[in-house]
Amino acid sequence: MTIGVMDSGIGGLNMLAALIKCRVADRYLYLSDGANLPYGKKGGGALREIALEGCKKLAERGANSIVFGCNTLSVSALDYVRKRVIPPVFGLIPRPDLLSGRSLLMTTPTTALYLPKIDDSVSLLTPAELASLIDREYPDTRETESYLSPLLLPYEGCENVYLGCSHYLYARELIKRLLPGARILDGIQPLAALVRAVLPTSESRNPSIEMIFTGKNESERYLAILASLLK
Ligand code: DGL
Repeated sequence: MTIGVMDSGIGGLNMLAALIKCRVADRYLYLSDGANLPYGKKGGGALREIALEGCKKLAERGANSIVFGCNTLSVSALDYVRKRVIPPVFGLIPRPDLLSGRSLLMTTPTTALYLPKIDDSVSLLTPAELASLIDREYPDTRETESYLSPLLLPYEGCENVYLGCSHYLYARELIKRLLPGARILDGIQPLAALVRAVLPTSESRNPSIEMIFTGKNESERYLAILASLLK
């Protein structure tokens, strides 16, 4: 079983790590589409073509299944690609319906356009620069902190924060510190469990991993981030 995972950058490595931990496949392809980062400021039409292109690339390299490690791509293009490519495609869809009490949902600007109606107790924050900032500087978080701190100030006392962009997971510790006491949620683990339940699994403890870059090749950095996520 070969699974292809796709995102605009390092965000989807969180998805890849979760799949590896669930031992779903014996071979993984990771498509980092840096040439099109950030997805979160693009329109639906462009994202659908980007998604289709990415799926074709992954299928050509032998992916039997594809997982979007990206909320923006999933909400805008999942239905579109499912009708046009042969491998099954799984998507990371934000679940604001899981939130109760005073809560904050964080997504890219584009993802916000596709959300179902959210409860009045849930605030929506779409920090337009956050994904690019994290993609550029992680594991450093200084600029991310300067950018995010004032944006989160109005949400002190929130009970739950849902991270509806896979890049934002790298700011989890920072968000915990800025909004103490908040429970931080995301959709990565539930999607990995779904993929594990649906696909015939390969049970490999030592899968092969191939990285594909449409922008600058950053294999070394990506493998280091992946190793830290797998710890
Ligand atoms: N990681 C992507 C997501 O989950 C978005 C990053 C970007 O804007 O390129 O929505």
